[in-house]
Amino acid sequence: MQSREEYAQDLFVREDELLFAVRESITANGMPAISVPAELGKLLTLLVAMSGARNILEIGALGGYSGICLARGLTQGGRLTSLELHDKHADLARANLARAGFSHAVEYRIGDARASLAALIEEGARYDFFFIDADKENYPHYLDYALRLASPSAIIAADNVLLGDRVLDPDIRDASVEAMREFNRRLAQDDRLDAMLLPIRDGFAVARVK
Ligand SMILES: C[S@@+](CC[C@H](N)C(=O)[O-])C[C@H]1O[C@@H](n2cnc3c(N)ncnc32)[C@H](O)[C@@H]1O
Repeated sequence: MQSREEYAQDLFVREDELLFAVRESITANGMPAISVPAELGKLLTLLVAMSGARNILEIGALGGYSGICLARGLTQGGRLTSLELHDKHADLARANLARAGFSHAVEYRIGDARASLAALIEEGARYDFFFIDADKENYPHYLDYALRLASPSAIIAADNVLLGDRVLDPDIRDASVEAMREFNRRLAQDDRLDAMLLPIRDGFAVARVK
């Protein structure tokens, strides 16, 4: 008998040739294989399309896998801004987004995401969809910035919110685990948000700004 995850995956998820090639390009360039899994990529496309988002902010680009999934959900004229620490990662992501036909819709900002986020606030930028998938210790800060940059009814999604189930073990108290606990607690308890944690893969959270 299949597991429930295998059943859902077999029936609903087909990683197309382009996304498969993007995954390969990431390892071929010596970068870590830490893109979102195919089912979460599909979920991102669906969430963007269902919410009608027009301006997406991604934090953590790697090689552009999730960027392509996000861009695929955008309506005509929609835009993706992606924040990435490393030039090498952003260069590959830019190339992969171009390969997917989205070069006109995407902008990469290189450097520490907190500095880029502060600059976006200065510029008066607004976003209606956020995808948080960078360094885990900074998730609570990324949530603060997202709330300051959010349009009404914006969606905030985040990957790895269970950190390999380490958030469940009270004896583990390292910085990234404590930060993720704080992030999850705030998503659950902040009056400005409606949120849910989906315990699939490494944990995927989705929230709506009221
Ligand atoms: C898990 S990967 C992103 C995967 C990507 N979202 C995907 O699914 O295709 C995390 C990325 O965040 C970047 N990153 C880590 N710390 C960062 C920081 N402080 N500011 C900006 N980007 C950062 C890493 O260089 C890496 O490319």
